[in-house]
Amino acid sequence: MPISSRPRLFFFLFLHLALSFSSPPEDPIRCSHGHSNCTITNSYGVFPDRTLCQASKALFPTTEEELVAMVASATKNKSKMKVATRSCHSLPKLICPEGEDGLVISTKYLNRIVRIDVEARTMTVESGVTLKQLIHEAAMVGLALPHAPYWWGITIGGLLATGCHGSSLWGKGSAVHEYVVEVGIVSPAGPEDGYVKVRWLKDTDQDLNAAKVSLGVLGVISKVTLKLEPLFKRSITYTIKEDSDLGDQLLSFGQEHEFADITWQPAQHRAVYRIDDRVSINASGNGLYDYIPLRSTSSAILEAARTSEEIQESTGDADGKCSDAKLVTEALASRAYGLTNNGTTFTGYPVIGYNHRLQSAGSCIDDSEDSVCFWDTRVKGTFFHSTAISIPLSTVKNFIEDVKKLVELEPKAFCTLELNNGILMRYVKGSSAYLGKPEDSVDFDIIYYRSRDPMIPRLHGDILEEIEQIALFKYGGLPHWGKNRNLAFEGAIKKHKDAEKFLKVKMEYDSSGLFSNDWTDRVLGLKEGVMIEKEGCALDGLCVCSEDSHCAPSKGYFCREGRVYKEARVCTLVEVVETEEGGSDLKEEL
Ligand SMILES: Cc1cc2nc3c(=O)[nH]c(=O)nc-3n(C[C@H](O)[C@H](O)[C@H](O)COP(=O)(O)OP(=O)(O)OC[C@H]3O[C@@H](n4cnc5c(N)ncnc54)[C@H](O)[C@@H]3O)c2cc1C
Ligand SMILES: *[C@@H]1O[C@H](CO)[C@@H](O)[C@H](O)[C@H]1NC(C)=O
Ligand SMILES: *[C@@H]1O[C@H](CO)[C@@H](O)[C@H](O)[C@H]1NC(C)=O
Ligand SMILES: *[C@@H]1O[C@H](CO)[C@@H](O)[C@H](O)[C@H]1NC(C)=O
Ligand SMILES: *[C@@H]1O[C@H](CO)[C@@H](O)[C@H](O)[C@H]1NC(C)=O
Repeated sequence: MPISSRPRLFFFLFLHLALSFSSPPEDPIRCSHGHSNCTITNSYGVFPDRTLCQASKALFPTTEEELVAMVASATKNKSKMKVATRSCHSLPKLICPEGEDGLVISTKYLNRIVRIDVEARTMTVESGVTLKQLIHEAAMVGLALPHAPYWWGITIGGLLATGCHGSSLWGKGSAVHEYVVEVGIVSPAGPEDGYVKVRWLKDTDQDLNAAKVSLGVLGVISKVTLKLEPLFKRSITYTIKEDSDLGDQLLSFGQEHEFADITWQPAQHRAVYRIDDRVSINASGNGLYDYIPLRSTSSAILEAARTSEEIQESTGDADGKCSDAKLVTEALASRAYGLTNNGTTFTGYPVIGYNHRLQSAGSCIDDSEDSVCFWDTRVKGTFFHSTAISIPLSTVKNFIEDVKKLVELEPKAFCTLELNNGILMRYVKGSSAYLGKPEDSVDFDIIYYRSRDPMIPRLHGDILEEIEQIALFKYGGLPHWGKNRNLAFEGAIKKHKDAEKFLKVKMEYDSSGLFSNDWTDRVLGLKEGVMIEKEGCALDGLCVCSEDSHCAPSKGYFCREGRVYKEARVCTLVEVVETEEGGSDLKEEL
């Protein structure tokens, strides 16, 4: 298909926003008999290995007392259990209980604000409260959670468990767990304690460093108390610059602005700087950040955009991706990414407004029952990999230089990232949480095309694989616990200097591992290996290839060394073959 005749679907994606559903998104927990015989998925419909998982029963406690009784009963029965949320927005298999009779405990109805102490600036919430609820309730009484993830459809229990963050090197930094001062946690115990132990950890307890970022393996967090600040205003300006000095800018920019982040668009040789600072509460402006990709989008547009990218993939049309990417990034920039100065209209930078209206977004989950977020599983739309790896500030400049070498070799390989606005780079401070970031870091966050067929290679997939391996293995990068593909967790636990301390607390809180599963055991190094080696495994990020069959030799993709980082092993197109899916175009392109 000639490139010029293809509709610029991604452009429309951002211009035409419409609603098309009349039911809320499917619950990640689906049971066939009331609350038993359940299937669990994440919000994307599949885990990284493309499986679902099972639970014999789903429990929905509505009070802490019920929760305690359920954990006691399950412990007495020696049942494996896992906590799931109303949203299940983390990718890896963190919420799967194990075995035939495993249980899933949902925090869906543990969603109340327990107490707000305006004087002490603290807020206690049940763990199933969403980020949206939390920041809005706090603002109502003049308080602010200074930093938060950019997507507010997640729960406080879930976001803490995986170490979620926004972007900042100032003060305590951007990770939400830095603002936790108390945690209530319900864990298994022996018969002498009635099979359950409830702990209320304060910030003087060393164990809080384990409970703040726990991967859910210590028990169920029932309540969380956060230390807040007086509500403040922020001033945001986006400015686009060419990326020649990006490495140096990355080091200084985070020192200069409290809420700084940078989005890199390597194929366009430029970066979008978010100049974002605290201003006086008296500064005028009632800005709102309704981030465009997190608005409700019509299923027809999502499906059309997907079809377009599938055609580009199967015909090897990197140029088509690059021109679409330009349209997407231009459309977003020209509409200020969804910022408005007064809630409805963008009239120019800076946009000034209250923190809670700017820090996080997600109107696609607003209470109206017919909203669709772009990953909604009822739509045959976006299907993607999500990679988020943080690299210590001390070496991040070298990492940028390595990526730039790959940009020089294969600029078009990066367009697929720019279809999603590029590489989001956010600052995270070193933490005392045992599974938090050991040192000040920059988190690199990308989402990119994933084939629905695991055996089909991605266009220029080798370049992204190489970047992933450079980040992880050359620079010791750490995976975000709630994102990423299997290979990213290889050796990750060893990079946490306090891992042993975490495991000691885990032994004390849940000695028989009732809250653990095969995945958490592997990630925590209690079982060997996070990679799954099988035919085509490297194509889907389940392994780093070590033999050709891990790629797609019949389609011409073989396991080869990286182009910049020779230690990398990636699936590279090295030979021309004819394939049923019209691979002949592919060969011309490459
Ligand atoms: C569109 C989008 C944007 C995102 N943006 C960001 C971002 O800006 N920054 C960022 O850091 N991440 C971000 N993420 C990642 C994601 O939000 C996290 O991985 C998060 O963990 C999901 O939270 P959840 O409430 O859905 O929890 P789930 O995915 O349901 O659970 C995550 C883990 O927490 C455990 N858990 C949940 N509740 C409890 C509890 N009460 N007690 C004990 N364990 C519990 C679960 O067992 C599981 O191990 C984003 C994700 C999406 C989809
Ligand atoms: C459990 O659910 C599966 C489908 O999810 C179904 O095939 C099976 O028959 C159900 N088992 C029982 C006992 O209901
Ligand atoms: C524990 O087992 C008993 C007896 O089979 C059952 O009634 C109870 O529901 C089980 N507890 C949980 C939490 O599943
Ligand atoms: C804001 O204005 C109020 C009333 O005019 C004043 O009392 C207060 O000091 C001002 N605050 C700041 C931070 O400037
Ligand atoms: C926002 O500003 C625009 C133009 O300045 C105006 O037309 C609109 O009514 C304003 N909206 C609100 C909610 O004040």
